[in-house]
Formats: sequence, structure tokens, C-alpha cells
Amino acid sequence: MKQSVPRGLTSRLFAVVGGPVPRRLAQWAALVDEVNGWETQLRAETDEQLRKRSLSLRYRAKSGERLARLLPEAYALVRESSVRTTGMRHFDVQILGGAALFHGSIAEMETGEGKTLTATLPMYLHALAGKGAHLATVNDYLASRDAQQMEPVYRLLGMSVGCIQTPDTSDQRRKAYACDITYGTAKEFGFDFLRDRLLLRRMGRQMSDFLGEGSSHRWDDSGEKPVQRTACFALVDEADSVLIDEARTPLIIGSLGEKARAQVVASFRWAAEHAARFVEDEHYEYEQDTRKVELTAVGRQFLRTLPYPDLLRSVGLIDLYQYIERAIKVHRDFHLDRQYVVRDGEIVIVDEYTGRLAEGRKWRDGIHQALEAKEQIEVTVPTGQAARITVQDLFLRYRHLAGMTGTARSAAREFRKIYKLRVVPIPTNRPVIRRRQQDRIFGTSEQKWEAVVEEVRQLHAQGRPILIGTRSIDKSQYLARLLEQAAVPHEVLNANEIAREADIVSLAGQEGRVTVATNMAGRGTDIKLGDGVADLGGLHVICTELHDAARIDRQLIGRCGRQGDPGTFRQYMALDDDVLLNGLGRERAEKLTRLGQASQSNLDHYSKLFRRAQHRVERKHFRDRNVLLHHERERKKIQREMGQDPYLDTAD
Ligand SMILES: Nc1ncnc2c1ncn2[C@@H]1O[C@H](COP(=O)(O)OP(=O)(O)OP(=O)(O)O)[C@@H](O)[C@H]1O
Ligand SMILES: [Mg+2]
Repeated sequence: MKQSVPRGLTSRLFAVVGGPVPRRLAQWAALVDEVNGWETQLRAETDEQLRKRSLSLRYRAKSGERLARLLPEAYALVRESSVRTTGMRHFDVQILGGAALFHGSIAEMETGEGKTLTATLPMYLHALAGKGAHLATVNDYLASRDAQQMEPVYRLLGMSVGCIQTPDTSDQRRKAYACDITYGTAKEFGFDFLRDRLLLRRMGRQMSDFLGEGSSHRWDDSGEKPVQRTACFALVDEADSVLIDEARTPLIIGSLGEKARAQVVASFRWAAEHAARFVEDEHYEYEQDTRKVELTAVGRQFLRTLPYPDLLRSVGLIDLYQYIERAIKVHRDFHLDRQYVVRDGEIVIVDEYTGRLAEGRKWRDGIHQALEAKEQIEVTVPTGQAARITVQDLFLRYRHLAGMTGTARSAAREFRKIYKLRVVPIPTNRPVIRRRQQDRIFGTSEQKWEAVVEEVRQLHAQGRPILIGTRSIDKSQYLARLLEQAAVPHEVLNANEIAREADIVSLAGQEGRVTVATNMAGRGTDIKLGDGVADLGGLHVICTELHDAARIDRQLIGRCGRQGDPGTFRQYMALDDDVLLNGLGRERAEKLTRLGQASQSNLDHYSKLFRRAQHRVERKHFRDRNVLLHHERERKKIQREMGQDPYLDTAD
């Protein structure tokens, strides 16, 4: 008799999918049964016996047996290994999630359900084939935390684990990639791919030189070798962030080398330093109509007498003339707080027609850099472009791709369209008892902040830990000042020091803690409740403003109510919030702002308006991403037709 699905699991699946359980999910639930079937036997075996089993699985996988057939025993082994090393036994729903991941899905598992542990299952199974398995996540901290926490589970079964961190050298990277399993960020995987590709092309050129001349292999002498080997499987954690939100940013390797960049920067700085010593009509002429500066013969002579750093020795004189001419022009024609301002260490152009700041715009022809040098801030040299890849393309290159996140559902269409991956919701191990508290909506942000501080004060007096999410760093700092005035002790985090930040966030569940963080800081960090905190009601999360994507809000909220813990959250909104501006357009948003300033009444009925605005911004971003995808595809098609490598630029 075949008893296929554990009854508890199917009925819970039923509740999650809200109808008959799809066939696939039922099949995977049957796998859970098979995995459970191995448990008693494996429990009785020694570590050594488990390792032997693992070895034999490896052998079978390498001799071509289908991984799907090895799944039940492999998953049971990983579970047993985890029990022995971390003390955690994969819950049935985690085994189910692992099965969904192996079969190439986006597993939507609630925040705090234990995706870190779930990942060990498909990672191990794919690694058996020995063709490389990558786990990609959003930041270095999460990559190294997860690699470290899960390493003992793999090691007991004879699998090696590597982790890529941004500062790593090529040698360290090569070692990490040589491991059975490699953790890292999507960005690092992408840049290593591009660097290898550039290197291989250089090697290819040298190879053809070599064939012509009969000299030795130069690339062997330099010791340069690619760092990656082929990788067959990628599991993407925080899949919505990596595969959807970050898909818009292409990874680009500049064509200017380190030294060339340093030289350009030094030239701008040198010119800025000396520009004021050049005298009009003696050293240079200024043409009123075209606002052009040109050095005279005397000026050129004078320039040659100026001291310059060693780095400029190989810069041509003609170039130096131009640097100085540009610096003089900038010195005469561009004035701080008139044409531009300096904010957060960046030049921001003031639009001459509207007087507003033209965020993100730059002057061309080196003017922008000359200004940066004049203001003694970082000089942003355009890097040129030698190689590029989008996150989308990077992950589409893997033979097998899967993803997991707490927030996938709203992006299901995109996952299917772009990656051909289905979103599969996995039930939680225990019921989620996190409670939403009534939204609070205010006419102006000032009123909103005041109310936030008041709520923090009250809950803090009871000892409840509180996590407050803001939309930006300056808003965190603003709130921190208000809390200081209210004499509420607190910690502030911003996106700069992720490791320290994550440490603080992970302590955020202790009694009496108040933590202010940007929304983005929350993702992936695990907040454990301190002693007695559950009795107080658990962690309380305050969202001070809706983010452009509801998923980001859900991630922040997901820091409480993990693993069936108690927890509450509340969302605050004001009629002058950015989300209304972005979603409804300036005109309507300004009308609402005016209304807000006038109104003293209860604004709770505006709640729907906010969600609608948020939804519109989400759709707008979705359309933008589609346009990008389309352009990328066209570009690649043309390059392929011309016989070029679509990831490398033609010029080196
Ligand atoms: N099988 C298990 N037994 C006991 N504890 C577990 C188990 N699985 C996970 N946990 C615990 O649950 C907590 C949350 O795990 P984890 O951070 O992996 O969640 P997550 O799903 O990745 O959440 P997020 O979406 O926020 O990243 C951790 O403290 C972890 O130790
Ligand atoms: Mg996680």
C-alpha cells in the first residue's frame, strides 16, 4: 500500500493554495514522506557511515544517475547531519521547500521560516554532481553568515564550502570557487564572471601571438588564471531583490585600468590647484561668446614651469594644457551655490531655469570632474566600458536556477516571464501569529513623526523591543534626533556598515531595545527574542513610510513574528509622503499635501489611496524593467549576429 502524502502537510498545503493542491506540490509532499522514511536508519549510523553514504551518492551522481532519484536519501542525510552539527532538524515544510527548489522553483517561504537551513538540501544534492553549486544573496554579511552557519552540515558529509567576500584576492576567490559549494553575492559572481571573460580573451590573443612567434606561454608566467569554474546550479536567496529589483543595474567593468584612472584624477586635481595662478590676457584669452578659454604662448610656458607629481610624468603636454584650460573655465564661470551645490560629497547641478536641484545630472566634457577637483571631493572619472552583464543574464546562464524569498508572490509574473520560474508558496511550520495594528495616517510628516515617537515612548516604557524602519538615511537621523529629545535610548543604523548593522539588528529583540534602521537594512537579518520578551508581546515593528514596493515593507515587517514568535507591526503614513508623489504625480500629490496641512481630522480613510499609489509605482518599475530587458535582448542579438561576444566590448 502506498501512503503518499502526510495528511497534516496536505491539509496545510490546501490552506495555503486555497484549493486542491496542485499535482506537483502533492508529489513533492510525497517526497517528504520518503525522506522521513530514511530517518530511523540514518539516526543509528555513525558519522563515518554517513560520510560513506555521501561518498557513494557522489559516485552515483557522477556516473550519471539522475539527481532526482537520489533526492530522498540525500535530503535525509543532510537533515541527519544538521541534527548532529547544528542541533536543528529540517521541518517537513523545509524538506518540501527543498524539493521545490531542486525542481527549479521560486520557493516563497515566509520571513523567518529558515531558508538558510532549507538551502542546504538542494545545494548538497546539486553539489553531488561535482559541477559547482552557487548560493547567491544580497550582501557580504549574509553570504558569510550563512556559509559559516551551514558549513558543519556540509562538512560532516564530506563537502567543502567556500565564500566570496568583496575584498578577496584572486587566489582566495579561486579557492572558494573550487569548493563543492560556493556562497557569495550576485554582484561578486557577476564581476568574477566578467573578469574571467576578459582574461580569457586576453589569453586568447596571447595564444594567437604565441602561435605566430613560437615564444613561451605568457599567461602562465604571470600566474593569471580564471577564478571561476563552470557552475551548474545557482540558488538565489532574497530572489525578488536579486532577480527583480537588482536586475535593472548592469554590472560593468571599466576599461580604464587602475593606474590610468589614478592619472586622470591626479591631472584634474593638479589643474584645479594651479588654475587660479593663470592671469587673463597674459596667460590665457577668454572668448565672451563661446566662453572658451585658450592658453597663450606665455601661459603654456608658465605651465611648463609648474611643479607636478610623478604620476603626471607620462601625461602629454597637450593634455595638460586642456586640463588647465578647463580648470580656469570652471574657476571663472561656475560658482558654488549658484550653478551647483555640494551635497553628501557630490556635485548637484542647480537647474538654471527652475532653480531646483537637477538630481543625477552631470556636466559633460570633463567639466563635472573639474568641479569635483575644485571642491576637493571625490573625482568621478567615467570608467569606459570593457565588459558588462545584467544580473538577469548572469543567472540565465546557469543550467539550473532556483530562488527563495519571503516575498515573491507579487512578482510571480515577472519570475515566470523572465526566468521561466514558478513561484511556489510553502506553508509555514507553525502558524504566523504576527499581528497588524491599524494604520495611522497624518496630514503632515511632522505630525507623523511626533506620533511615532509617542508610540515608541509608550511601548519602550513596557520594555518591548521596537524596530523602526525609515525610507532613507537622513530620515533615520532625523528620527534619532527626535528620540534623543524624548530621552529614548536607541541605536541607529544606515546602509554603510552592513556587518555592524546586522549585529545590531540581531540584538534588536532584547528587552528595552529601540532600533532605527533604513528599510533596506532589514532583509535577511534574523532577530531572536530575548528572555521574557515573548511574554511582553514580542518585537514591535514600525514602518514610518511606505516604500515604493510593498515587498520591501513586508521584509521589514518580517523581522518580527519569526518561527511562530509573537509580534506586532504598524504602518504610518502622511499625505506628503514620497510614495504619493511617485505614484500619483506631482499635481495630485501637491493637492494632497495642501489638504494635509489644512486638515486636523482623522485621515484613516486615505489608507486605500496609499496602497493604490504604491501599486502604481510598482507597475511603473515593472514596465521600466521590461524596457530594459527588451533593449538588452536586442543589443545581444545584434552582437551575436556580428559574431561578437555579447558580454565584452569590442575595444579592450
Ligand atoms: N528546523 C529548524 N529548527 C529550529 N530552528 C530553525 C529551523 N530552521 C530555522 N530555524 C531558525 O529560524 C530562524 C530564522 O531562520 P532564517 O534566518 O534562515 O530565516 P529566513 O527564512 O531566511 O528569513 P528571512 O526571510 O528574514 O531571510 C533562525 O534563528 C534559525 O536558527
Ligand atoms: Mg534569510
